[in-house]
Amino acid sequence: MADSFMAQWVYTDTVKDHFINPRNLWKEGEAFEADGVGEVGSLACGDQMRVGIKVKDGRISDLRWLTYGCASAIASTSMMSEMAKGMTLEEAYHLTPSMITDALGGLPEHKFHCSVLGDKALRAAIDDYLEKNGLDNPYKGSTAKIICECKGVTDQMIEELVKTGKVSTFEELQNETGASTACGKCRDRILEELNECLHIYGK
Ligand code: FES
Repeated sequence: MADSFMAQWVYTDTVKDHFINPRNLWKEGEAFEADGVGEVGSLACGDQMRVGIKVKDGRISDLRWLTYGCASAIASTSMMSEMAKGMTLEEAYHLTPSMITDALGGLPEHKFHCSVLGDKALRAAIDDYLEKNGLDNPYKGSTAKIICECKGVTDQMIEELVKTGKVSTFEELQNETGASTACGKCRDRILEELNECLHIYGK
C-alpha cells in the first residue's frame, strides 16, 4: 500500500527527503532565542510560515522555521534553511524561490508558489533583526521587480499594499498605484502577483 502510494509521488527524491526529514524545524517548546523573527501567510489559507534567525558577525548562524503549509512548502523551507545558514545577511536576503527549487531538483509547476513563503519569511526575519538592533536596512526594496513598466509598479509595492490591507481587488490596486492603466500589457502579471499576495496574506 505504502509502496504504491509512494510510486505516485511526483516530486524528486530530494523533495521527498526534505519533506520526510525536514531540517532545522522549530520544534514545539524548543528554546530558540531568535535575534529576528519573520512571519508571512495566514492560517485562513493554511500557508502560514514563521522563520527565526540567529545572527553572528553579520551571518546567519542558526535558523528555525515552522509552517502549516503543504509538502512543497515544507521541503522548500527545509532546503532554504540549509542554504541560508552561514550566509551573510545580504546573501540570505537575495535567496530566491528559483535557487531553492533548483537545489530541490525542481517542483511541479503548480507548486512553485508554495516555495515563496520561506524566503519571504526569511527576508521578514532579517528586516526584524535589523530594526530591533537599530541598524540601517540597505536590502529592503533591493529585490523588487518592476511589473508595470508604464507606472513603475513593483511586486514589492503590491505585496506591501495587500499585506497592510489597503488593497484586495484589482480595481483598488489600479486606484492606488495606477498599475495597468496605460498600455495594459502588464495586466496578466499584475493579476498573478495580486492573487499570489492575496493567497499568502488574505484574511
Ligand atoms: S506596462 Fe503596465 S500599463 Fe503599461
